[in-house]
Parts: sequence; C-alpha cells; structure tokens
Amino acid sequence: MCLQRLCENLGDLKGVILAGGTGSRLHPLTRITNKHLLPIYDRPMISYAIEALVKGGVTDLMLVTGGTHAGEFLRLLGNGHEYGIDRLFYAYQEKPGGIAEALGLAERFVGSDRMVVMLADNVVEFTFRSAVERFEKQESGARILLSRVADPQHLKHLGVPELDPRGRVVRIVEKPEDPPSSYGVTGIYFYPADVFKVIPTLEPSKRGELEITDVNNHYVDLKQMEYDVLEGFWGDGGESIEAYYEVNDFVRGHGANKERDESR
Ligand code: G1P
Repeated sequence: MCLQRLCENLGDLKGVILAGGTGSRLHPLTRITNKHLLPIYDRPMISYAIEALVKGGVTDLMLVTGGTHAGEFLRLLGNGHEYGIDRLFYAYQEKPGGIAEALGLAERFVGSDRMVVMLADNVVEFTFRSAVERFEKQESGARILLSRVADPQHLKHLGVPELDPRGRVVRIVEKPEDPPSSYGVTGIYFYPADVFKVIPTLEPSKRGELEITDVNNHYVDLKQMEYDVLEGFWGDGGESIEAYYEVNDFVRGHGANKERDESR
C-alpha cells in the first residue's frame, strides 16, 4: 500500500496507534466492546487510523490497547499484513491512565527511533503524507497536526493552541473554557525518542490522566514544536455520540484517507 520511495525513506519512523481507554463518553455501547472497534460506516473505527499511517508510509506499528476486549484487535488485524503493515506489535495497558501513559508502553518498541502517534478514534479525509515528510526533515523536536474548528463549543472538548502573531504555538490548553484560537489539536503527533524521558515527569491531570497536552507543552516550552494544519475533514469519533455519528456520516458520504489529488 505504501509508496516504495516512502517506505525506504521512512524506515526509521515507527508508528504507535493508541486504542485504550474506557470509552465512557460512548457508554453503553462501549460496555460491550472497545470504542475503537465500533463501526465507522463499513469498517471498525481503528482501521481508518491504520490506513492513514500506512498511506503515510509508516508500516512498522505498535498498537496499544487494554480492557476486556483487547483480544478482538488480534482477531481483526492479525499480523497486519492484509492492511499493508510490515510488522505489527501489540502492547497491553493494564488500566486506563491517559494517552501519554499509553504512549509510554511503546518505549521499547520505538527505541531510539522517531515516531508518529495516532489516536485510533481519529479519522481524516485526506492522507497526511506531506506532514510525515516534513517531520522527517525536521532536525529536532515534535510536530502536531491542527484542524480548523469553527464551533467554539467543540473546541472546549479538545486541546487548543494559542498562537503568537508569527503563528508560533506559545502554549496548548486542554479542554479550554475560553479557547485561545479556532484550531483543535488533532490526535496525530510526531515525537523524537526523548519523549519517553518526558512522560515519567508528568503529573496526572484533574481527570486523573497523564495528558498528551502536557507532553506537547514540554516541546512548546523548548520552542521545539512545529505544526501543520490539516485540510479537509478531521473528526474524533470517540468524543461524543454526536461526534461519532458526524464521523460516520462524513465517511459514508465522502470517504476517508484520500490522496489529496483525488479531490481536485
Ligand atoms: C485528546 C487530547 C486532545 C485532542 C483530542 C483529539 O482528547 O487530550 O488534546 O484535541 O484527543 O482527538 P480526549 O479524546 O482524551 O478527550
């Protein structure tokens, strides 16, 4: 599935897909399965994140999940080859402790390489291969993907960056009462290997989780945070039941993970 040129270039870039959590915002649906296995149109939710990474040229992947339905991922994905994955590893999160905690479980898999991290409930209209390529060329630090979000109420459920007049990120606020911009931080992150030194320094947030926004603010403070703004649709299918159906409706009508040129 991935372009030969990219597969060669991105040999040292690992992919980490995070599919843990309790999915409490989608209860009771998620009492009987993992949120990331719920259907989005005609496929389980997680398959969109996998396709996005594979189309981005990232084919060496670790899936981090937990809970009582973890075995279903193995049944769905097997060794991943059918999905264009070269090597697929699994990690088990003993109890939900947040996105950053889940990422920490990938430390031995990633080793000294760099990584693309994707939340398995995120769905994009277009592939983000160009951002992967820019991260490859980035000398140091991290990178995030932003999406324009028009509705301020929606922004209150996301991480939102404050930008200075030159467009640099000066901080990211998680679930802001008063959103400092009209961009949401999507669940697609690029990190260097030293992210694993940052995670143990984090304190749990008010919701009792190690927040990925705290990881991101570490790189913001170092002035080592770059970003791209995604074009087209972006959705977090796990945010609420409304968001889940919005993502379903979009994918049913327009598809996902399209190459940008197709839409022109
Ligand atoms: C997480 C992040 C948030 C980000 C969102 C994107 O939120 O904490 O910064 O905007 O994913 O999907 P959560 O789904 O944990 O509420």
